[in-house]
Amino acid sequence: MPVTAEQLRSAMRRWASGVSIVTTRAEDGIRAITVSSFCSLSLQPPLVLICISRDALSHRLIETERRFAINVLKAGQRRLADLAAGRSGERGNRLVGVPHRKAVTGAPILPGCLAWLDCSLVASHPGGDHTIFVGRVEAAGQAEGRPLLYFGGDYRRLVGARPRPRRKPARNSAREPA
Ligand SMILES: Cc1cc2nc3c(=O)[nH]c(=O)nc-3n(C[C@H](O)[C@H](O)[C@H](O)COP(=O)(O)O)c2cc1C
Repeated sequence: MPVTAEQLRSAMRRWASGVSIVTTRAEDGIRAITVSSFCSLSLQPPLVLICISRDALSHRLIETERRFAINVLKAGQRRLADLAAGRSGERGNRLVGVPHRKAVTGAPILPGCLAWLDCSLVASHPGGDHTIFVGRVEAAGQAEGRPLLYFGGDYRRLVGARPRPRRKPARNSAREPA
């Protein structure tokens, strides 16, 4: 018996992830979609991937524009995540009035995020009702703060964890610190 959509959803609700907003430029401004299926793929060359529903408005724009930005959300950006997930606001008109800037590709980069990656589209692979878009990272940046998380069908915060300062490897040591 194949796994039902509900069984798959139930299992996947146990998978904790970060939350990002993928932004694309549209004729009427920014098109945005909340995305948790974002993953680092390669360091050389620098590649990441996102999985986007074939039904999403952003799907066609990513294919035609061939550039997109991934904005990694901070704990306080839940309202923005809801907007880009279509949970409030008008469909396709979600980030009206939200300021943004460009880096290299021209894809919109949102202010106040934990990190951002400006990508050009280099490959698209079919993945059932989604498409796996592979982006080459043309520019990236990060800030301090705590991430917005998603687990059990709801947003969560990281409690009690502070970002650890980066340690330099000890002299004469060949091993990287754990
Ligand atoms: C936390 C969270 C994560 C999501 N992750 C994805 C994802 O990885 N890929 C995707 O296609 N949709 C994802 N969605 C759903 C889209 O954000 C949602 O369907 C959106 O309305 C699509 O917008 P559009 O059709 O206007 O482009 C996610 C939603 C939430 C709340």
